[in-house]
Amino acid sequence: MRRSLVLGNWKMNGSRSSAESLAKGIIAGLGADIADIAVCVPYIFLSDVAQIVKNTRLGLGAQNVADKPSGAYTGEISAAMLKEFACKYALVGHSERRTYYGDTDQSVAARFCQAQEQGIIPVLCIGETLEQRQQEKTFDVITAQLDAVVDLAGIAAFNNAVIAYEPVWAIGTGLTATDDQAQEAHHFIRQYLSAKDQAVAEKIQILYGGSAKPDNAKGLFAMPDIDGGLIGGASLDAESFLKIYHSV
Ligand code: 13P
Repeated sequence: MRRSLVLGNWKMNGSRSSAESLAKGIIAGLGADIADIAVCVPYIFLSDVAQIVKNTRLGLGAQNVADKPSGAYTGEISAAMLKEFACKYALVGHSERRTYYGDTDQSVAARFCQAQEQGIIPVLCIGETLEQRQQEKTFDVITAQLDAVVDLAGIAAFNNAVIAYEPVWAIGTGLTATDDQAQEAHHFIRQYLSAKDQAVAEKIQILYGGSAKPDNAKGLFAMPDIDGGLIGGASLDAESFLKIYHSV
């Protein structure tokens, strides 16, 4: 039985003080140890939030990581730097990075490897746009996104990784994938991995992301190939994030 994971992605929201109170509010309501839980916070708040989550069950993550280990890359943050702030996870390939900042399948694969080299668990975000879904290209897109990482890192690397399926058309739109649509994609992803390494496929946590909310989380999490969620907007409020967590 896979353990579930609920990850918050705060994106570019909040202030130093709101980040601290949100982290404290989540910790206060954690309750029983039913699943893994972590928050991916803006880089600049990692230091503050690292102090707050220390010795608690709330894990910490970053929203991206550089595709190079160090050097003249102005504005980038390396995996080794993240490691200093007790980051357990780093998102790679979030659709907002791919759409607005030019992250490619290849650079995402390099980021994935950089995270792993420092013992940080990469959370590989994949998913199709609305246009791609309408053109029935969903599985082709997902395959290409996975192929790029498998080609560079090898299938064994997925022993220490998480995948987040986030259909772009569902992110921040209020349009959640139905339980069956999400399950279909998650099943496809697990089958893709299984064809290369069955043990990897059975072990890996595959999260759903895209307008996941307290009122739809239970149905999504009940699907056999959905192992939790990557939560954007609803993770900015401790109560709604905890409700989602308690739906696993
Ligand atoms: P929303 O939950 O706000 O749709 O965002 C999902 C997401 O992008 C998480 O990474």
